Amino acid sequence: MSDFTSDFWGLFVAAATLVSIVGCGVLLWTQTTKRPPTGVKAELHGNVWDGDLQEYNNPLPRWWMWLFYITIVFSLLYLVFYPGLGSFAGKSGWSSAAAYQAEMKAAEAQYGPIFNQFAGMDLAQVAKDPKARAMGERLFQNHCAQCHGADAGGAIGFPNLRDNDWLYGSDPAIIKTSIAEGRNGIMPPLGEAVGGEPGIAQVTHYVRSLSSLPHDASLAKEGATKFALCAACHGADAKGNPAMGAPNLTDGVWLYSSSEASIAESIRLGRNNRMPGQKEFLGEAKVHLLAAYVYSLSEKK
Ligand code: HEC
Ligand code: HEC
Repeated sequence: MSDFTSDFWGLFVAAATLVSIVGCGVLLWTQTTKRPPTGVKAELHGNVWDGDLQEYNNPLPRWWMWLFYITIVFSLLYLVFYPGLGSFAGKSGWSSAAAYQAEMKAAEAQYGPIFNQFAGMDLAQVAKDPKARAMGERLFQNHCAQCHGADAGGAIGFPNLRDNDWLYGSDPAIIKTSIAEGRNGIMPPLGEAVGGEPGIAQVTHYVRSLSSLPHDASLAKEGATKFALCAACHGADAKGNPAMGAPNLTDGVWLYSSSEASIAESIRLGRNNRMPGQKEFLGEAKVHLLAAYVYSLSEKK
């Protein structure tokens, strides 16, 4: 209810709720068949079903009616103590947000120390601890697998974290920064700059030649002269620049794909790829464990 700027809807919902409850009570009261005076026998309704099935106009059992009245009283008492009547917070002060906060606090008190025991340790050392790795893996399955894959093998646009190839660098501290702060790999569209579609084709063939993929040598030769535009980020030798996450274009590892279409698309439209930062949500201790786990994946090779 707090999303509304005026009180109107809060009052409207409260009124609608109360009118419905009171309405139920009134309906129950007015429709109740009174018990016949002692000695008077209940009469038949007069309707006949299936040839001989008839009904007395006896009142409903009293205990059954009382259950109805009790639910009405209960709902009114509930609305006095718990939130439910428009924007009225209820006398007990209970709210789902506060209950969630309290549970999170209790969980932090219980599990926090388990995560924290590794927080002060060197990442390379944490990566060697089987218990820490198992905790890191569980965190990974919960928070990272949807993008990087359950085996951390990645997908198109989502880097493989098992191999020894890193966009931003292999140092454990850098891996931790990627996870904590997030990353945003940006390549501007350069189709126009390389001379439109013919230029895109030339540079594409040059890029393919760098990792010995099948290519047209004369197109690649033209493309080589235009690579100066790319060198600012990918380096003159095309080996990439981890400071800005510009991939190495010579190593046969592809974030997107080695196909002509995909390379041409990177050049034509640019790329804008985001890894969400996890520090705020997961906290330092869990990020530390995750960094150690990710680091351990490629260290094994
Ligand atoms: C919403 C999808 C998404 C989620 C969730 C996600 N990532 Fe990423 N991650 C990416 C993308 C996309 C990149 C590449 C960013 C770029 O191209 O600059 C990336 C990059 C990385 C890198 C840098 C890789 C390199 O080669 O330098 C690391 C490390 C990483 N992620 C770890 C994690 C961990 C650990 C988690 C779980 C806490 C996680 N990611 C959750 C999408 C995601
Ligand atoms: C301003 C820096 C910048 C410039 C200039 C630049 N790139 Fe990039 N390029 C990047 C970044 C950063 C990425 C990674 C994008 C991502 O994380 O999704 C990238 C990705 C790519 C990819 C995808 C690689 C893969 O593994 O799938 C190709 C291909 C590529 N660039 C080619 C080029 C070519 C060719 C040029 C010159 C015409 C060029 N780039 C100019 C920064 C740049």
